Amino acid sequence: MIQSIGVIGSGLMGSGIAQVAAQAGCEVRVRDTSADQLVKGRASIEKSTAKLVEKGKLVAADRDAALSRLSFHADLAQLAQCDLVIEAITEDLALKNQIWKELDSLCGAKTIFASNTSSLTIAAMAVATRRADRFAGLHFFNPVPLMGLVEVVRSVGTSQDTVDQLFGFVRQLGKEPVAAKDSSGFIVNLLLVPYILDGIRARERGVATTADIDTAMKLGASHPMGPLTLADFVGLDTLARIGDIMFEEYRETRYAPPPLLRRMVIAGLFGRKSGKGFYDYSKEPPVPVDLGL
Ligand code: CAA
Ligand code: NAD
Repeated sequence: MIQSIGVIGSGLMGSGIAQVAAQAGCEVRVRDTSADQLVKGRASIEKSTAKLVEKGKLVAADRDAALSRLSFHADLAQLAQCDLVIEAITEDLALKNQIWKELDSLCGAKTIFASNTSSLTIAAMAVATRRADRFAGLHFFNPVPLMGLVEVVRSVGTSQDTVDQLFGFVRQLGKEPVAAKDSSGFIVNLLLVPYILDGIRARERGVATTADIDTAMKLGASHPMGPLTLADFVGLDTLARIGDIMFEEYRETRYAPPPLLRRMVIAGLFGRKSGKGFYDYSKEPPVPVDLGL
């Protein structure tokens, strides 16, 4: 049974993954590159667990126990003894492989490696290590504490024993695992990414305002969020990287990031995490940003 977890990256996804693993009783060691980011990661876990307590979904004593199972580190070597290391850093193959290579030499033979990548090929990361049989994809969804699904991705070299252990781990977290092949975007992003990008293209073409595109998909198709709110929620920088990787893989224009998305990323409009994207989050409720369209 998997009991000690290392999480690399304490951004949107890493902090959520660390939180649910700690809530499930695992000892969790979180690593990020800066002390500042580790403080932010811890604060977001405290905020999320406080919300769950407030809503009666988590008992205060269990929250305290979960928080006590978390530790934060700048030194990668602190993750060497973990049963499973989950990587949730920036969607960049070279950056991820630098980490995998270093970790491979630090961790013992039994440690399983899993990437939370949205769109990269798992095999392209496994080759940076000498443990392709213990390397898989474990794709969580944002916001991790509330979303019920995890895609478990078996690549060409992944062993059945690794897949079985990861299915068990996902169930231990109280989430539903589904098996996906090592195909860019797996199941959900293969379908969801072109939809979000089409929402941005509709905005770019002036089909409707930001607010009306979102309202239309919420009330007309019963989506919990409109596509532009969802784009801000995922992070426009991350979305553009995912689109580039999927376009490179499939050469289908529906995965290509629209020019508006690229311009917004260049301008530092990353969405909710930077305070501004399609909406300005300094206002409550957030208001659409005038993009000069
Ligand atoms: N932890 C704890 N509580 C949280 C939270 C978190 N991380 N995030 C939100 N909440 C809280 C909210 O603050 C809210 O509290 P209040 O009711 O007090 O305001 C509560 O949870 C639930 O919010 P709502 O009542 O508004 O419920 P909702 O029905 O809107 O659910 C949601 C919120 C689950 C985020 C929903 O809007 C939703 O499902 N949105 C779509 C999310 C989605 O599609 N995710 C996938 C993104 S793609 C991806 O992840 C893959 C990739 O590789 C890019
Ligand atoms: P983010 O930008 O919120 O966080 C990335 C974190 O990685 C940052 O805190 C950064 O400091 C850290 N980082 C960068 N290099 C590092 C290193 N060498 N060591 C340790 N930490 C490092 O990004 P995110 O949204 O959390 O995405 C992380 C991964 O999860 C990406 O692969 C992304 O595609 C995937 N993902 C994202 C979502 C989403 O909705 N945002 C959903 C599922 C999967």
